[in-house]
Amino acid sequence: MPAIPDPIGVFDSGVGGLSVLRAMRTLMPQESILYFGDQGHVPYGPRSMEQIQSFSQGITKFLLDHGSKLIVVACNTASAAALTYLRERFPAVPFVGMEPAVKPAAETTKTGRVGVLATPATFQGALYTSVVEKFAAGVELFQHTCPGLVSQIEKGELGSGITRAILEDALHPMLEKNIDTVVLGCTHYPFVIPLIEQIVGDKVRVIDPAPSVAKQVKRLLTAQGIHLTGATAPPLHPGAPIRFFTSGDPAEMISILPVLLGESGGVEAVKWKNDHEIV
Ligand code: DGL
Repeated sequence: MPAIPDPIGVFDSGVGGLSVLRAMRTLMPQESILYFGDQGHVPYGPRSMEQIQSFSQGITKFLLDHGSKLIVVACNTASAAALTYLRERFPAVPFVGMEPAVKPAAETTKTGRVGVLATPATFQGALYTSVVEKFAAGVELFQHTCPGLVSQIEKGELGSGITRAILEDALHPMLEKNIDTVVLGCTHYPFVIPLIEQIVGDKVRVIDPAPSVAKQVKRLLTAQGIHLTGATAPPLHPGAPIRFFTSGDPAEMISILPVLLGESGGVEAVKWKNDHEIV
């Protein structure tokens, strides 16, 4: 595929970052995107910080080599493990990362009780501790990981019995504690919002941070003067090009794109060399 000009690089361990890409697309259809899903290594959640840093560095280098003007770490786990590390190693590059949306939850909860769903690595990272310290004073947080959920979503099983059982295991103990808000601290989870809403009911607010992250990307592009507007912007419809890359099986990503994004696309295969360089 020919190179596309001035793209935004977006990456995740797999297809979860597509929830962020979707929000970016809605807000900035004129911006081209390179999307990298590290499906050869998914899930990141149970992995060590060092490993996730090494993968994130390799992917960032790959996206920069393909001309990315800004990098979106569309993965809470990679942001928790590697965002500071990436900023140190690529000081000239603008990055946008994810953090669990504890702040808006703490500002709007009425019961003062908030549930947070995320991966083990996200809960263990310093980023989560600092967000909790800064924004959650006076709020009780109930944290839960969702073992197996990322793999279910990777398979496109958004409404199966197994997916429901994993979510019920995580959410029922929180509901018993009278939470009125659930924060989705993993970019895969917005794809099961319909199921989450069925389980928690209409009195519990579910927070998907993707729209706020897309706004942050737009702010940063504008502040840096690298956004596309007016004369430089391609026609809005069908939108600027998106290139998808996977380190896993392209056929799998090709089959899931319509399920998650409602549109199909070609996917290019890439290979890891020694787990820190992409060829
Ligand atoms: N989408 C990633 C996140 O936001 C998934 C984590 C994983 O691969 O375990 O945390």
